[in-house]
Amino acid sequence: MTRPASDWWKSAVVYQIYPRSFADSNGDGIGDLAGIIGRLDYVRALGVDVIWLSPVYRSPQADNGYDISDYRAVDPMFGTLAEFDAFLARVHELGMKLVMDLVVNHTSDQHPWFAESRSTRVGSKRDWYFWRDARDGAEPNNWGSLFGGSAWQWDQSTEQYYLHLFERRQPDLDWTNPEVRAAVHDLMSWWLDRGVDGFRMDVINFISKADGLPDAPGIPGQTFVNAIDRFADGPHVHDYLAEMTRVVFADRDGEFMTVGEMPAVTPDEARLYTDPARHELNMVFQFEHMSVDQGADKFDYVGLDLVALKKSLHRWQIALAETGWNSLYWNNHDQPRVVSRFGDDHPDYWAASAKVLATVLHGMRGTPFVYQGEELGMTNYPFRHPWELQDIESLNYYNGVLEAGGDTGAALAGLTRMSRDNARTPMQWDAGPHAGFSSSAPWMPVNPNHTWLNAESQVCAADSVFAHYQALIHLRHRLPILVDGDFTPLMAEDPQIWAYTRTTPTAGLVVLANCGRDTRAVDVDPEWTGATLLLGNLPNAEASITSTTVELAPWEARIYLARPGSAG
Ligand code: GLC
Ligand code: CA
Repeated sequence: MTRPASDWWKSAVVYQIYPRSFADSNGDGIGDLAGIIGRLDYVRALGVDVIWLSPVYRSPQADNGYDISDYRAVDPMFGTLAEFDAFLARVHELGMKLVMDLVVNHTSDQHPWFAESRSTRVGSKRDWYFWRDARDGAEPNNWGSLFGGSAWQWDQSTEQYYLHLFERRQPDLDWTNPEVRAAVHDLMSWWLDRGVDGFRMDVINFISKADGLPDAPGIPGQTFVNAIDRFADGPHVHDYLAEMTRVVFADRDGEFMTVGEMPAVTPDEARLYTDPARHELNMVFQFEHMSVDQGADKFDYVGLDLVALKKSLHRWQIALAETGWNSLYWNNHDQPRVVSRFGDDHPDYWAASAKVLATVLHGMRGTPFVYQGEELGMTNYPFRHPWELQDIESLNYYNGVLEAGGDTGAALAGLTRMSRDNARTPMQWDAGPHAGFSSSAPWMPVNPNHTWLNAESQVCAADSVFAHYQALIHLRHRLPILVDGDFTPLMAEDPQIWAYTRTTPTAGLVVLANCGRDTRAVDVDPEWTGATLLLGNLPNAEASITSTTVELAPWEARIYLARPGSAG
C-alpha cells in the first residue's frame, strides 16, 4: 500500500536535537549548529526521517532558548544564519526533513515587541501582551506561573502587571489581537520560505486564555494556584490553529509536519486538534503518561505503577483510533531519562530495559519521537548538589523550598529523579574527555557513565540499544501494519507484562514485553500459534510461537508477526 504524500508523517520517525547539549564545534562548552552538522551522518544512520530542532533563535537564554528575542536570527551562541542554511541543506541532502521549534505563546522580555509594549500604556504594541491593573493592590488574578510564584509581574514604569505563564522573562502574547497572529504567521512563512518542513509548537494549547482571565478555584488562603484550566484549550484555540493552517500552509506546495505541545490536553480535545478534516495540526504531544509517577507536584516522585502507565497510553491509542493521530514519546528536553524512570538502569538490566521501552512505544500507533541519547539508553545524572542543577524550573523549585523552610534534601532527591536537567547533560559520543561533546568543560556536567555508555561503542555493535532503535525504525518504514493496524491491549491489569496486538484484516503483530526482573510466562491466544519472530531484544528468543505460553526472560520484549505474507 502506498501512502498518500499528505500523511507521509504517519510512517515517519522524528529525532529531537537539543542544540546546547548535542555537539560543540568551537570549544566553548555549548553545543552549536556546526557541531550538529558534524554529527548528521550519525542521525541519518539511525534511520530517522525528520529532525526536530529545539530553539536556536536569538535569545537571552533565560529558559535555554524558549525565550526568543528575535525570531528571524540565530543566536551567536549557536552560529549564524548561513550555518543554519548549510545545516538545513545537509539535512535535505541526507533525505531528512527539518521541523523547527515555534515558541509563540510568549516571547522573551527582551524582544523588541515587548520592549515597545512595556514602554508606554498608549503605544501600538501595548495590547500585544496582557497588561492589567493591580487588584486591591495585588496581582490581577490568582494564577500561578508554571515555574513557580505568581504568573504576574509588576512593571514599575507604567504601573501595571503583565502576564507570564512561565518565567517573568517570558511574557505571554495576547493572541486575541489579530496583529499578533499575523506577526506569527509572517515569521512562520519566513522560515518555510527558507526551506524548513514544519513546526513543533511550544505549549500551543495555551494561546487562548479564558475570556476575562478569571480566577481559578483555589484553596482559601492559597495565593497562587495552578490555573491550567483557565488557559489550556481555551475558547479560541481551535480557530487560531485553523487560521494558521489557512494562512501559512494552505497555498504552499510541499510535505509539511506540525505537532503541538499540549500540557493537560484531553483525548477529546486532541481528537479535535488532529482531525484531518479540521485542518489544525497533524498530531499533539499529550502529557498524561508523563504524570503517572508524580504526586503533589512533578518533583514528588511516587514510584511507577505500570498498570497506570499502560492504561494511559492505551486509552490514547483507542481514543484516536478512528479520528486523529498520536505522537509517541518517552523523552524530550523536559523529561528525565526514560531508562532511569520507567526502566531499570541497574547495569544488568540497563540495555535490555531500554530496548523493552523502545519496543512497546514504537509498536504502537502514532509517530514515534526519539530524543537525543535515548537511542543509546542514556540515563539520569547522579545529581548530588543543588549547584549542579542549571534549569530555571529546577532552581526556582529548590529555592522555593529553601525559602519556605521546607525539606531541601527531599527537594534535591525529587529533582535528581524528575528534573529537566537529566535530559540536558551532554550527548555521550565516546569514552574520551567530555564524552567527545566538546574540547573543554561543557555547560552541564557529562554523565560519568559515558566511559561505557556512548555512541562510539554502540553504532557498530549488533546488539546495542542503538541497533535496536535502528531495527524498530526500519520496521516502522517497512510494515504498514505498524502505521495502520488496529491496537488491542492484552493483559491490561498485569503489573509486569506489557502486551498488545496490532491487526489488519490480513495480518497481525503481537508485542509481548516483560517489564521486570522476574521471568514470566505469558498466555497467548491459540490463534497466534505459528507467528514468527520479527524482533526481540535478547538472544535465543523462540523463532515462532509454538504453544499457548511464551516464556519471557527479565526485561525481554518480542514482536511476532502472523500471516507474514502481507504484513498489512
Ligand atoms: C515547553 C518547552 C519547555 C519550556 C516551556 C516554556 O514546555 O518544552 O522547555 O520551558 O515550554 O517555553
Ligand atoms: Ca559551541
